[in-house]
Amino acid sequence: MSPFQLTRTLPLDATGAALRADVLAGLLHSPKTLPPKWFYDARGSALFDEITTLPEYYPTRAEREILQTRAAEIAAATGARTLIELGSGSSEKTRHLIDALADLHTYVPVDVSESALTGAANTLIASRPSLNVHALIADFTRGLALPGTPRPRLVAFLGGTIGNLLPAERSAFLASVRTLLSPGDALLLGTDLVKEESVLVSAYDDGSGVTASFNKNVLHVINRELGADFDPDAFSHVAVWDREHEWIEMRLRSLVAQTVKIPALELAVDFERHEEMRTEISAKFREEGVRSELAAAGLKLTHWWTDERARFALSLSVAR
Ligand code: AVJ
Repeated sequence: MSPFQLTRTLPLDATGAALRADVLAGLLHSPKTLPPKWFYDARGSALFDEITTLPEYYPTRAEREILQTRAAEIAAATGARTLIELGSGSSEKTRHLIDALADLHTYVPVDVSESALTGAANTLIASRPSLNVHALIADFTRGLALPGTPRPRLVAFLGGTIGNLLPAERSAFLASVRTLLSPGDALLLGTDLVKEESVLVSAYDDGSGVTASFNKNVLHVINRELGADFDPDAFSHVAVWDREHEWIEMRLRSLVAQTVKIPALELAVDFERHEEMRTEISAKFREEGVRSELAAAGLKLTHWWTDERARFALSLSVAR
């Protein structure tokens, strides 16, 4: 049997249909919004990878530091034989974990991007030929059908991506993860932490303008996929700290009054001069908040690890 298997649970056209539905709903909403998942075409994924190398963008380095220092503890605490990684992307940071999990039998990376999945799987299999890799092309926010693999299971959701979900989406997501876990299984969750406003804003409004290009990339995606005529130069990048919700909000601000046509939706949308459209929230967390959101989903937090400077946390929780 080949150690690599790829299962598609997303119909080939699901992405297009979901994009049309999201863009239609978001642009008819007041204020206008677009969901952050549409940043990540090939160009957007490359821009995100570039963001992770910027001096201002600390979360990736902080999380990698925790994974490097704590991989052995995570392995000992879980004894995982199956590792399921949601939103696995390039699986780069996960390597530390995989290398530490001595009893690991199967790795299940889950992503909407087929190219990310096959690329990451090939690198992994080359270095650990005995590992089974069962990649899933799936949208993890929509419930998962997992292959029957040996327990204990460890589900990993890294990068702080849970912060890109709104609070109601977050609780629904955690509840759906809970259904994947039996006694003895665990969830490893990465969360960025509340810190000084200037540090947070700089991380989402870097001096070299890479995050601005990343933010505007969603307009390129809509132009290409839906035939729209957004002029990305007619919008500016905005990143603000919402202290009430404790999240960073990225927006695109229309520099002029303009009308944008979206033929695939038979829609023309008016923007007022200086109108702002929300494109992402990135929530920042505190230990007590993470503990109580996990508890509300039926999960008990058992470990809390931060990097040396307490910028980012990894938590381990188990089904109650
Ligand atoms: C790493 C996907 C969670 O919210 O920090 C980076 C993406 N957005 N810069 C984050 C992102 C703007 C991001 N995630």
